[in-house]
Amino acid sequence: MKPNLVIGNWKMNGSQQTNEVLLRAVLAGQKNDAHLEVVICPPFPYLASVAAHLQHSNVVLGAQNVSATTHGAFTGEVSASMLRDIGCRYVLVGHSERRALFGETDEAVAQKFVAAIDHGLIPVLCVGETLDERRAGITNGVVTTQITAVIKHAGIEKLTRGVIAYEPVWAIGTGETASPEQAQAVHRHIRGKIGVYDEQAAINLQILYGGSVKADNAQAIFSQPDIDGGLIGGASLDAASFTSICDAARANPGGTA
Ligand code: 13P
Repeated sequence: MKPNLVIGNWKMNGSQQTNEVLLRAVLAGQKNDAHLEVVICPPFPYLASVAAHLQHSNVVLGAQNVSATTHGAFTGEVSASMLRDIGCRYVLVGHSERRALFGETDEAVAQKFVAAIDHGLIPVLCVGETLDERRAGITNGVVTTQITAVIKHAGIEKLTRGVIAYEPVWAIGTGETASPEQAQAVHRHIRGKIGVYDEQAAINLQILYGGSVKADNAQAIFSQPDIDGGLIGGASLDAASFTSICDAARANPGGTA
């Protein structure tokens, strides 16, 4: 059975002092459970100190972004090998905030995805539609385009070594969540698309939901058959909420594999 995955994306929040308090409480709430992997993605400057905190725990480290290039004169960039070096196992690529605010194209996201895979990181490919796109009835087409861009560049084998996170843009940080049925429908669509290339890899693929997941809706979302965990923004900054969300993922192991 594939483990569920819960990823806390701290975005651009925290300080040395608040991180320490938050991590202490998050770690205190963790249970040893092979059916759930918990990941924390702090801002870059805190990766090393969070890595030190997570040593000897079963929570693992992730980053929020990665450069597509390996090294050299790229001021302000951080490479995949550096992230590995500092102890990261996961990295988010193509988060909607990166796409919308920093102009990341499908092509740029695909290159980052490959850089991550090639340097031993597990990329978490974020996809999702805007409210206008949902209203226009093109949600499935939008996520298909975003995923196909990575398949074109990386190939299906590399894609399925990563994780996909479906994050409808209109549900991020808004308090508005996709209903469990809406999320399940898109997850099923994504799994079906991957299944056209490789049926077994599609079954094994972890597909996460993100967008205003909270302690009180996590259970309903994670109980959907094609939802294998969550990518958590705001609620990952509150230890009690994040712990409840992890518990909800533990209570709904399995998915389709
Ligand atoms: P919220 O949980 O704050 O809606 O953020 C979701 C997200 O963007 C996680 O990457």
